[in-house]
Amino acid sequence: MLAIIGGTGLTQLDNLEITRRLIVRTPYGEPSQPLIFGEIDGREVIFLARHGNGHTIPPHEVNYRANIAALHLQGVTEIAAVATVGGIHAELAPGVIAMPHQIIDYTNGRKNTFFDGIDLPVKHIDFTEPYCAIMRNNWEQAALSIGESLVNHGVYAATQGPRLETAAEINRLERDGATMVGMTGMPEAALARELGISYAAICPIANYAAGRGDSLHSIQYEELVDNLNKSMVRVRNIIAALVEQNGLCKLNASHSEASTA
Ligand code: HPA
Repeated sequence: MLAIIGGTGLTQLDNLEITRRLIVRTPYGEPSQPLIFGEIDGREVIFLARHGNGHTIPPHEVNYRANIAALHLQGVTEIAAVATVGGIHAELAPGVIAMPHQIIDYTNGRKNTFFDGIDLPVKHIDFTEPYCAIMRNNWEQAALSIGESLVNHGVYAATQGPRLETAAEINRLERDGATMVGMTGMPEAALARELGISYAAICPIANYAAGRGDSLHSIQYEELVDNLNKSMVRVRNIIAALVEQNGLCKLNASHSEASTA
């Protein structure tokens, strides 16, 4: 089953016919909100707002482990994660929607693994390709079928937040090879991989990153929100198209295995 994790600007899905809400408890605590079960075009999906119902949980306080574990407990095998970003590369201007193919983790202090109890064996998952390429390609086709385009590549820099970056930090991220920056990409993607869930991200670009484009001297939050609201209408349509086309990833064996050390 597919789950959609909504980020900033996507706390609900208008085109989701809600059938039930489920409070889930996990060994890691409670997810950001009760899971919302519903149908889009007759197909069952689960929706979860990463920052909670009223957008009250900041990126560094999201219980990523509880979110992913709760979805896994419900039999979720694929996650479409919507995550707002700032564009670093000129190609990623506000209004563009991208699906990154790589990620660099700059976060700190977040609980980033399911394998850290004293009784648990140490596990090292393969994370060479952090996002499911099959899902990305299927979603690209689904978007095209409704006249939308998605940039099907990009390197996501996951920063700690909640503050936005300095211009010098963005220069450093760019030197590292990052083309977009957001605060929620990690450890979410790695935790999904640890549980063998196929995962890819849809990233609406809300603003130019600090020191770029019209964010040369500051980032105007109101503009960011305005851009985001416009993009979210398109993101909802893309999600409907990808659910309709059943554009999901058959579980890739390499995604479900973790090597033991
Ligand atoms: N930086 C980090 N996260 C973000 C940004 C940004 O510029 N825009 C939206 N999320």
